[in-house]
Amino acid sequence: MNKKSIITTKNMTIDFVDNLITNAEKIRNSKGNEFSNFLQNKIIFSLFLEPSTRTYASFAAATHKLGGKLISVNDPQYSSLVKGESYEDMIKTIECYSDMIILRSPTKGMAEVASKIVEIPVINAGDGDGEHPTQALLDIYTIYREKGRLENINLGLVGDLKYSRTIHSLCYFAKIYNMNVYCISPKDISLPEYYENTCNIVAKTEKIEEVVRELDVIYVTRIQKERMPGLQNNFKTDLYKITPEIMSNARKDCIVMHPFPRNDEICTSFDNDKRAVYFRQIENGMWIRCSILKYCFS
Ligand code: NCD
Repeated sequence: MNKKSIITTKNMTIDFVDNLITNAEKIRNSKGNEFSNFLQNKIIFSLFLEPSTRTYASFAAATHKLGGKLISVNDPQYSSLVKGESYEDMIKTIECYSDMIILRSPTKGMAEVASKIVEIPVINAGDGDGEHPTQALLDIYTIYREKGRLENINLGLVGDLKYSRTIHSLCYFAKIYNMNVYCISPKDISLPEYYENTCNIVAKTEKIEEVVRELDVIYVTRIQKERMPGLQNNFKTDLYKITPEIMSNARKDCIVMHPFPRNDEICTSFDNDKRAVYFRQIENGMWIRCSILKYCFS
């Protein structure tokens, strides 16, 4: 069987990403009409064992736009895991009913495990503090749309670089596009060495004001409190918070992105600045996910 799972961005090539972006634009420009029957008779199973608003809703919208049907189990309380069923049995069961699994799990590596158990494609919609490849694809798509290029980018990664899976997946793209990466985070939640070695790090600091002038893209993340019980009160966003004042020192065409949900790391008073692209980023997520679904079933 020709199985196309999306588990990590690690081995994705520029050609592969270009192709996804081209198709996202095609589907978008046709307002979804061009591929509206593409998933006819396909059943997509969304299994979200952690909270989600955007990833779930955008995959659901993408499934509907391409004419597929969706089954959702979005709360572990409503799965037989609570009755003591094994993860393996649950995944095999889902395969009996559906043509694809979109999986969010609190445990790193679980999407990969699932992809080895079943014959149908599995999409990793976030695995603990591992990766979030489809978010990174929508992030790259957003940089492409907003900046008009993916080369020669000075990328600032801000906030919780240790536990944010969106950051980890984005690092692999920073590598293939040869971006200059600036890490801006408290020391205890800095980028793990493994990812540091993956991309071209040009600066590391706790204070955004030290590097803000140099950045083309500022990618902000929230503190992943749920992944570090007990530590959550130790981190303050003061040194890297995005405010209109901080942004008065940034380039006029520097964009600010965030995977959302946000806490207090971007002031809402910055939202009306044209450099705040995070709500457009959210819409891009739906179109790139249409393109990802198309790829998986092509
Ligand atoms: C992110 C996630 O789930 O990793 N959210 C998302 O999918 N847009 C970021 C986060 O939870 O902080």
